[in-house]
Amino acid sequence: MINAQRILVTAALPYANGPIHLGHLAGAYLPSDIYVRFQRLRGREVVFICGSDEHGVPITLSADKEGVSPQVVVDRYHEMNKAAFEQFGMSFDNYSRTSLPLHHRTAQEFLLEFHRRGILKEKKEKQFYDDQANMFLPDRYVEGTCPVCANPDARGDQCEKCGTYLNPMELINPRSKITGRTPVVRETSHWYFPLGDYQARLEQYVREADERDGWKENVLQYCRGWFKDGLQDRAVTRDLDWGVKVPLPGYENKVIYVWFDAVLGYISSSREWSERIGKPDAWRKFWLDKDTKYVAFIGKDNVVFHCIVFPAMLMAWNDGERTEKYVLPANVPANEFLNFEGEKFSKSRGWGIDVKDILTRYPADPLRYYIAVALPEYRDSDFTWKDFQARTNNELADILGNFVNRTLAFAGRTFKGVVPERKELDRLDREMDEILSRTPGLVGDRFEQYHFREGVLEIMNLARAANKYFNDSEPWKTAKADIDRCGTTINTSLRVARALAILASPVIPSSSEKIWKMLNLPGEAARQSWDDAAGTGIPSGHRLGTPEILFTKIEDDVIDAELRNLTQPLSPPPPAEPAKQSVTMEDFKRIDLRVARVVEAENVPKSQKLLKLQVEIGGERRQVVAGIAQHYKPEELIGKSIVVVYNLQPAKLMGQESQGMLLAASDSSGKLVFITPSAEIQSGSVVK
Ligand code: MF3
Ligand code: ZN
Repeated sequence: MINAQRILVTAALPYANGPIHLGHLAGAYLPSDIYVRFQRLRGREVVFICGSDEHGVPITLSADKEGVSPQVVVDRYHEMNKAAFEQFGMSFDNYSRTSLPLHHRTAQEFLLEFHRRGILKEKKEKQFYDDQANMFLPDRYVEGTCPVCANPDARGDQCEKCGTYLNPMELINPRSKITGRTPVVRETSHWYFPLGDYQARLEQYVREADERDGWKENVLQYCRGWFKDGLQDRAVTRDLDWGVKVPLPGYENKVIYVWFDAVLGYISSSREWSERIGKPDAWRKFWLDKDTKYVAFIGKDNVVFHCIVFPAMLMAWNDGERTEKYVLPANVPANEFLNFEGEKFSKSRGWGIDVKDILTRYPADPLRYYIAVALPEYRDSDFTWKDFQARTNNELADILGNFVNRTLAFAGRTFKGVVPERKELDRLDREMDEILSRTPGLVGDRFEQYHFREGVLEIMNLARAANKYFNDSEPWKTAKADIDRCGTTINTSLRVARALAILASPVIPSSSEKIWKMLNLPGEAARQSWDDAAGTGIPSGHRLGTPEILFTKIEDDVIDAELRNLTQPLSPPPPAEPAKQSVTMEDFKRIDLRVARVVEAENVPKSQKLLKLQVEIGGERRQVVAGIAQHYKPEELIGKSIVVVYNLQPAKLMGQESQGMLLAASDSSGKLVFITPSAEIQSGSVVK
């Protein structure tokens, strides 16, 4: 374990394309916040860095779907997520965003440095192109069947079902996310980072860092898997227009690959922090001093980028002649996934809870506590409403809250709210003292090693032991028989309450401050010393504050309502048809749409799908073949008004000439209806 005095902590930059949900909190954010708050109590010099990841295909796809520009999407979710994090009690020193010019400059600086030193290689390659949308289809712009597990909806960059990272060209039956069409293949050029050249050094780096700081087994497993497959060159540019521009000739229409820029977001966010606090060089002593311990918290889907790609980029930089040498992560604690009521969180299926929503109904601390004891540290775990209720009521309220409350209430009644003296100790007092004095070390060890669940359980064990101590000491009896004995019990209980406020503050920060206030102690619980938490009591004669309810219990009917609500949005919303690329009015006007009247209709021989219609358009007769035979009988159409594309080039379908196309609407259930004017109108009328 590395015991460093200065610690740089980063938490994965969430994509600003949707609200963060509980799964995100359990992956990277709550663990990092507990760690940082704990290290600050330890007296370490810490900076805690995060921000929004605002580039990449996840963002542009969301924007396409909504029909707005990517800037609109990232502006909305950056603010939303920043506020949700604040409300959840995340204590970031800086929450930046990768659309800032400072970030663009930082990412370009790295790219240009690598280019100048000849590290990057340019390659021509074949890539999917959507010739209707007129654009290349990098990464998630293509979907298709996974070559490994045959999942029919694998994304171009990764199959979410089996986890395999893919190149879009490997997909079977690829289709464009924009138009749904089968893409064509075109040639394009990209710059590549030679990740393979760094394999030996990366393996050594992971091995040594693990030896020094004890990496998590799941993270090592992922790394070994990558090393075993052999690291490949990685394209660091993309044919997109949203992102950090590539400042190299011929690359005016390309941007830096989102992961290459995003990881550098940690550095630019740190620089922004320095400027904001008026110490423009402050970031340097964190990033450029080898005595800094750098810990990068992430979710498991980000392992390769943080344990392999980012360290390789930093190595490449550090190999140069520049004096700035960056520190590499000393540890990359990644959690597995948190599920929700037994199923994976899914934005598209509306399964899960957004942080901002749940915080309108419950305070942050019970949520933090429950997620902390349910953290998916070794394997996927589950958030359930019933467990949330049970942990809140049976542990926070009945154990911790109850102990603090009864202690203060008793001191109020029996000692007029003044701390009594600690006199002669009996066996129970000594046992309590012993449990108390070993807890900071015990919990601290767990936290230092990123085992937050176990640490938090130990804190609750202290409260549990304290409750038992209070019961067994029976101060309500000694109050009459032996007031010194009674005073000693209450003094000891108050000392434990004070320690609990400090030790629990990384997990439930606002409740800790409440306890601190009830004890009427100066300053803040969060600014005390972890290592002295048990040793320092409250001096006798000190006047206490008034007890308040710390944790409100959650009633059954509240949880029942949550459970009832679950089933409603769950019925999966129909998969939305991806929006097509926008067109100008001019584009649209090139299509000639007309009202037509059906005069004859018959089945096309040997075709189950096609109907052959004779239509009248203004005085003109035309034949239109339409794929609607499974939805309409020929006689249902005769006499009806329809809308046709009048200037579509004639085509032959099953040997029948079609001189126009009928317009119809279809939904995801397969239902199809033809489009008809809402009232009688002359055939041949223009539709616009
Ligand atoms: N935006 C990525 C995700 O949500 C994480 C990026 S972490 C980074 O999966 F900082 F490296 F960018
Ligand atoms: Zn797969």
